[in-house]
Amino acid sequence: MPTKRFPDGFLWGASTSAYQIEGAVDADGRGESIWDRFSRTPGAVDNGDTGDRACDHYNRWREDVSLMSELGLSGYRFSLAWPRLFPTGSGRPLQAGIDHYNRLIDAVLEKGITPLVTLYHWDLPQTLQGIGGWRNRDVVERFADYASTCFESFGDRVKDWVTQNEPWIVGVLGHQLGIHAPGEKDLRGTVTAMHHLLLSHGRAVQALRAGGSGGRAGVAFSLFPHYPASDRPEDIGASEASDGYVNRWFLDPVLRGTYPDDMREHYERLIGPLDMVRPGDLDVIGAGSDFIGVNYYSPRIMRAEPDHEPFGWAVAEVPEGEPVTDAGWHIAPSALTDLMLRLHNDYGDIPILITENGGVFDDVLHDTRRIEFLRDHLAALHKAIEAGAPVRGYFHWSLMDNFEWAMGYAPRFGLVHVDYETLARTVKDSGRYYAQIARTNELST
Ligand code: NOJ
Repeated sequence: MPTKRFPDGFLWGASTSAYQIEGAVDADGRGESIWDRFSRTPGAVDNGDTGDRACDHYNRWREDVSLMSELGLSGYRFSLAWPRLFPTGSGRPLQAGIDHYNRLIDAVLEKGITPLVTLYHWDLPQTLQGIGGWRNRDVVERFADYASTCFESFGDRVKDWVTQNEPWIVGVLGHQLGIHAPGEKDLRGTVTAMHHLLLSHGRAVQALRAGGSGGRAGVAFSLFPHYPASDRPEDIGASEASDGYVNRWFLDPVLRGTYPDDMREHYERLIGPLDMVRPGDLDVIGAGSDFIGVNYYSPRIMRAEPDHEPFGWAVAEVPEGEPVTDAGWHIAPSALTDLMLRLHNDYGDIPILITENGGVFDDVLHDTRRIEFLRDHLAALHKAIEAGAPVRGYFHWSLMDNFEWAMGYAPRFGLVHVDYETLARTVKDSGRYYAQIARTNELST
């Protein structure tokens, strides 16, 4: 069996986010978030599910940290709930929230696990939504203050920070299609919110540098490698254009300090001048990220469809015979190799962390398909590393089954199974398989 060795010091992690696992939404003074409000809107979430209880990780974190250790993890990515630290988004921080995350961080470190802490994983304090949420530029400064408090409180122990998670998804699902909180459907609002999310990343990086704690900051993007559905020039054009919408609109400002011209023109044609982008903003956004976080799930295969709103392109069906997860998402490990090499080629030597990768497989404990998914994606990642891509770690989504946003609890992404009746956790076969890789730093294929 050929063995693939990963670089020394490679981080083997798993990811979660606060709203998806914590539950305890009313505990210790936590404020309301936009997901508390949205999940209670009739019809917004499948089966009427909410994050009220989730995995009850807020109370069971000790057990969960032990599980991380059992899985051999050297990294753990989780998010801080802004409304636990600032119930209304600003003002004085709540000590109970700081105490909670101090205990969690200390426990993670005691197990020899490196924390990778996300500041914003979608649970905006509802009070800030009351002033327009991410469409309001003032929220950027509230975020910078919140980030500064986190750096001051935890930065002596946390050295790796993810500022924002998936600004494109926040834009497209939260503001353009209304499928995620805050449930808006407005393209101009979408572009504005996404710009402010990027600006808030830049402001947080500035705050990290200004504080004395040191540390590294990056942003996690949902990147979708693009391929045309055929070699017709129209489809090739659709694929290039959609790459601008999904990928370059975020990569270019953060890593080059510019928005891509082709996509700028699309947006200007549809919504008028992009005057939410003020002089100096791109300098803030483009200054000094230390790494780039990549959430990779699937490629997008594109075809031109002139009548398709708003851009004139559409995502094609998954090609016949190609594997899919139980959520119907295309499984394409080789696209991960392509993506890593493309990032290295287009954006240089900035270190890459795979901040998420995983799939929905409903098998309860004997999840052979997740094992195959892991094996094939890690082999694809290894191939990219051998070809020179500066990948420093891999964080599987997810440590445990959790609340999958508008899809509720039905899709299962975990290395650890959660019984939502009893809240019992059980390591799946994939968890044991992953532990072996994490412990040896080697993959057998
Ligand atoms: C993206 C998000 O960051 C995470 O919250 C979500 O659960 C997974 N991907 C799976 O969709």
